[in-house]
Formats: sequence, structure tokens, C-alpha cells
Amino acid sequence: MADQQAQPDRELGPVLVVIPTYNERDNIGKIVRRLHTALPDVHALVVDDGSPDGTGDLADEMAAADDRVHVMHRTEKAGLGAAYVAGFRWALDRGYAVVVEMDADGSHAPEDLPRLLDALRDADLVLGSRYVPGGSTVNWPKYRELISRGGNVYSQIALGAKVKDITGGFRAFRAEVLESLKLDTVASQGYCFQIDLAWRTIELGHRVVEVPITFTEREVGESKMSGNIVREALWRVTKWGLRRRGGQLRDLFAPKPKTPSSR
Ligand code: GDD
Ligand code: MN
Repeated sequence: MADQQAQPDRELGPVLVVIPTYNERDNIGKIVRRLHTALPDVHALVVDDGSPDGTGDLADEMAAADDRVHVMHRTEKAGLGAAYVAGFRWALDRGYAVVVEMDADGSHAPEDLPRLLDALRDADLVLGSRYVPGGSTVNWPKYRELISRGGNVYSQIALGAKVKDITGGFRAFRAEVLESLKLDTVASQGYCFQIDLAWRTIELGHRVVEVPITFTEREVGESKMSGNIVREALWRVTKWGLRRRGGQLRDLFAPKPKTPSSR
């Protein structure tokens, strides 16, 4: 079970918001305050990769002053994907019923989280989506929007995924879904982690719902987006897409069993 202090949502159960951080000292205090103003009962887990700017120390101070705040310290910057997988395991070990992904930099509005959680009552994974009616991006450089939209179109073509925003990083999972995803086999390090997990969830037949959000570019600090992150996403999605097509071809050409018993 989660800590005593966790007030379970009446229907969903205890909620943990996992916030990965790398050099977010000027953002982490504010985002957690906003989170607890919007949803006083949820817990936050800051997963810090040894930020040189002291984000981890500040998070420790916050945790010492507030039972709802927890911190995981990792020794080196190993990418968003690895940080989330570690945070998810922490959550599952402690019996949280719902696990949320949220950036530290204010791009994801904690004030939108109640709507995401509401939608989770009838879903297994809720994606905060910039690309469904009502969703938007604010102050995002044109090139970032192009990469993002391109990544979504490419994923739709390669994977056949029907969702509009498969790369987004503001989402809520039911714990049972995370348990089913074989987190041990997640190799995605960068932002393609988001595609990876949504795709696994869709493939397993879970209910995935998109809820519109406004994504606002950070005002403080720097994005960790890089060429390597884009390249990783491109080759992994291509690989998954080819594997999927290969499977479809095999199904097409494999001799069909004449009777169910001849399998
Ligand atoms: N622990 C850890 N380790 N945290 C990291 C790492 C890392 O290697 N890299 C990034 N983060 C943290 C940041 O500190 C921030 O809280 C969050 O992850 C998102 O990182 P940003 O660098 O702000 O991401 P972005 O704004 O460029 O991209 C956002 O939008 C993308 C979709 O277009 C993120 O939400 C991505 O997940 C998302 O794919
Ligand atoms: Mn950001």
C-alpha cells in the first residue's frame, strides 16, 4: 500500500505523479506547489539524475517538509525513459493505483490533471493531447512543432496507431497497465519512450483515451531535446513498424489451418 498519508481518490485509488528532472532547480518548487493546489491528495515523486544545478537537493528539502513529496536520486543522466521506468517501479512497489507522467518545467499544467484523472475512470491510459480539438501548443518554436507533428504522422503510418498525440509526456496510467507492459524490456531512452509505452498499451488492447491539453513552452531553463533523441525515435519507430509489417506479411502468407484442431 502507499504511505498512510496518501488519500485515495474515491474511485481510482492513490495517485503518484512522477516528475523526471535534470537541471530544473528554478522550476521544481513551483510545479509541485501548483500540483498540490490543484490536487492536494496526490503524491509527487521527483526522479533526479544527479542534476549539477542542485535540483535533487532542493527536492530533498521539499520532501523533508511535505509527506506528499518523494525523491529518487539517480547517479547519472540516463534519459527520460530510464528515469520514468525507475519511477514506475517505485510506484508499483508501493501500491499506487494511478501513475502520472508530468514534466517539471511547467509545460504541462497541473490544473489540467483533474480532467485527465476524470477520463481515467473509463480508460486504462489517458493521453494529454495537443492535437485533438481543444488542445494546443503555446510559445513552441516552429521547428519543435514540426518535429512533434512529423513524429506523430510517422508513428501513425509506421505503427498504425490511431492516436493523435503519441509523443506527448503528460499522461495517466492505471497501475495494472504499467504492470502489463514488461518494463524490463523498455530500451527507449529519450522521448521515443513516450511512443514506446503508448504503443505497447495500444497493442495489448487497453483502453486509450485522449484529453485536450495546452502545452506551454518552458520559460525557465533549457529543453533536453537533442539530435540523438530524434534519431533514436526515428530508428526505433522504423524498426517497430517493420517488425509489425513483417508480422502482417507472415500472417498473409502462412498456410491457413484447415480446421481449428489442425493447429
Ligand atoms: N531524470 C531525467 N533524466 N529527467 C530528464 C532527462 C533525463 O535524462 N531528460 C529530460 N528530463 C526531464 C526534464 O528535466 C523535464 O522535467 C522533462 O524531463 C521534459 O524534458 P524537456 O527537456 O523539458 O522536454 P521537452 O519540453 O523538450 O519535450 C517535452 O515534449 C515532448 C513531446 O513533444 C517532453 O514532455 C517529452 O517527453 C515529449 O516527448
Ligand atoms: Mn519542456
